[in-house]
Amino acid sequence: MTRGATQDVTVTGLLAEIADVGRDAVRGGYSRHVFDDADRALREWFTTRATGLGLDVVPDADGNLWAWWGAPGPDAVVTGSHLDSVPGGGALDGPLGVASALAAVARLKATGLTPARPFAVVVFAEEEGSRFGVACLGSGLLTGAVAPDRARALTDAAGTTLAEVWAANGLDPQRLGPDDRALGRIGCFVELHVEQGADLVHRGAPVALATAILAHGRWRVRAVGQGNHAGATPMGSRHDPVIVAARTVLAAREAALATPGARATVGRVTVVPGGTNVIASVAEAFLDVRAADDGTVRAVVAEIAGAVRAAGEAEGCTVEIVEESFAPAVVFDAGLRRRLAAVLGDPPAIPTGAGHDAGVLATHVPTAMLFVRNPTGVSHAPEEGAAAEDCERGVDALVRVLEELV
Ligand code: GLV
Ligand code: MN
Ligand code: MN
Ligand code: MN
Repeated sequence: MTRGATQDVTVTGLLAEIADVGRDAVRGGYSRHVFDDADRALREWFTTRATGLGLDVVPDADGNLWAWWGAPGPDAVVTGSHLDSVPGGGALDGPLGVASALAAVARLKATGLTPARPFAVVVFAEEEGSRFGVACLGSGLLTGAVAPDRARALTDAAGTTLAEVWAANGLDPQRLGPDDRALGRIGCFVELHVEQGADLVHRGAPVALATAILAHGRWRVRAVGQGNHAGATPMGSRHDPVIVAARTVLAAREAALATPGARATVGRVTVVPGGTNVIASVAEAFLDVRAADDGTVRAVVAEIAGAVRAAGEAEGCTVEIVEESFAPAVVFDAGLRRRLAAVLGDPPAIPTGAGHDAGVLATHVPTAMLFVRNPTGVSHAPEEGAAAEDCERGVDALVRVLEELV
């Protein structure tokens, strides 16, 4: 049997092939960010593996990869996920859905199935927003949720624009943006994903269907003060933006604790110039807020913003709060979920606090998600995992779902 032939394609085998790509020696886990060396290697790997399965891989202008089984066409069944990670992320958030999709195609091919509907596996670009700050960038561009002009001007930590990165990777930045033809071809979308909590551990079940996704936004709080000498500047004469960033962290926690079900996180703070004996001139705190509905997220952010502005005034710093992204709450298509629940023998149905490309697609086409049990319940960290048998059960479930849909 040659490599790439259908019989030797298993989800754990596929994941093992990319286990060394993009390891982060400093943070642990993986750092795979759109069009960096690791992401490019994963794109090549996907292209080789999908082509080996007889799929035709077509990149789109938004950085996404489409692998078609047969000719692209209307009312297509699409499955897939993403290959990028957060900084120091786990091995499965994203790749499990892509590898499971390829393994499912291999199984379906081995049974001699020919899809009656067009069928594709998709890899969405920059789902985590780790390089350019906007989560679900590839699906957001495709659907128009992210404006092309804004996307082109986004910069990474090195100051390189997205337009430059796209051009360096053979994509025409002028062509990125909503693609009604590609979107119009999707009849339904199913994303398999590692669970990002321990619900399935508690329920003793390997696989679940998703019901809903929390509303989710990201804000950048930028405070500008006066850089100065840590020893020579009396405490009462300072304009220290780090105080404002610290207030942001605490206000986020207080506001979320006071709001049932809300979650607020500052996972990243940057300080300029960043010297131990230097009062900073600029501090930025990156705020992530989620809740069951859009209004609650907005209310929590308003609460935090009030506290941050007051801290800025007290400290003599200017404060700017910029919304970087907002994804409304998602309820997955009830009809599709019922249909898949019947096929899967009524697995648990659970909501998720994590964002997904499936959430972006759900506004446009019937969409569903499958979750695979994660024994640690940890995600966006190296401890994320899934047992090999559960990964196989995830593929079993995806195969049954695809058989039902195609
Ligand atoms: C992405 O995984 C997110 O939910 O932030
Ligand atoms: Mn993630
Ligand atoms: Mn993910
Ligand atoms: Mn995500």
